[in-house]
Amino acid sequence: MQNEKLRTASLRIFHFAFLIFNFLVRSDTILNTRMSVNQETGISEELRRRFREARRVFVLTGAGVSAESGVPTFRGGGQTAVWKGMPFDKISSAGMLERNLAEVWEWFNYRRDVIESIAPNAAHLAIERWQDRFEDFTLVTQNVDGLHQAAGSRSCIELHGNLWRARCIWCEAKYDLRNGETTAIPTFTCEDCGNYLRPDVVLFGEMLPVGAYELAAAKAKDAELCFVVGTSAIVYPAASLPEIASAAGAYVVEINPEPTPLSNLCDEVIMGKAGEVLPLFEL
Ligand SMILES: NC(=O)c1ccc[n+]([C@@H]2O[C@H](COP(=O)([O-])OP(=O)(O)OC[C@H]3O[C@@H](n4cnc5c(N)ncnc54)[C@H](O)[C@@H]3O)[C@@H](O)[C@H]2O)c1
Ligand SMILES: [Zn+2]
Repeated sequence: MQNEKLRTASLRIFHFAFLIFNFLVRSDTILNTRMSVNQETGISEELRRRFREARRVFVLTGAGVSAESGVPTFRGGGQTAVWKGMPFDKISSAGMLERNLAEVWEWFNYRRDVIESIAPNAAHLAIERWQDRFEDFTLVTQNVDGLHQAAGSRSCIELHGNLWRARCIWCEAKYDLRNGETTAIPTFTCEDCGNYLRPDVVLFGEMLPVGAYELAAAKAKDAELCFVVGTSAIVYPAASLPEIASAAGAYVVEINPEPTPLSNLCDEVIMGKAGEVLPLFEL
């Protein structure tokens, strides 16, 4: 009995010591990344040098990059009713599309209305300037708002599609929704085959567009410097891209006001808003 108590007590002490050790290692990692940080910009000298010298740069953005433009992020909206009493992941799902295409269109028309008057912010604009700065620059976004393109980014791998496009459910023909004729629920059908159109956005329960992830993964693998901007890094396979970059030897930098599951993997974590941090790289 006495022995059993002693064993339990030592196990508890061992467990507690392990937790403390783990905490110290983690905080040390985080502290290390901030040791030579410039107090004014929050960017380390090491990162500045890498930014100056890099030839192959990879940027992955999420909803946070559009937050300062006024586009609501997904976080916190999980089970919250966002549309007619339905949570985001129900109204934006493949099942809903099969059950009620008109309602899905109504929801996406509402989302387009919300972002119609919204403009790119300083983060989109900084990323747009980077495309001509590096020999090989790759921009990958999980966003569907089209704000990178509005900022002037010429080439953007859209992992989750775009709110401003419709596509035929049968022949996959694409239609631009910016021309104004589709602000109401589209009653028109595909000009090529007569089938229904749907939003060209990846819904919950659907696969990513063919080739988009594969291209992004190849670019991530080849990158010297990888920025992860404004993503909660919980939606896979998008969140695997910085992991691929890191495993292949890239220096990975996260820009986010909050820590994410990726923070520990990153070589540097800059806790701040994308629109405030990204323009500082050009100073
Ligand atoms: N703008 C859009 O197109 C949009 C908006 C909401 C959701 N979505 C979709 O929902 C999914 C959500 O995943 P996600 O990781 O992109 O977004 P998310 O909403 O899960 O996470 C947003 C992240 O951005 C961070 N953030 C908030 N403000 C920021 C700022 N000013 N600067 C930098 N970071 C900031 C938050 O801390 C959080 O980690 C994606 O698949 C996306 O397609 C898209
Ligand atoms: Zn068609």
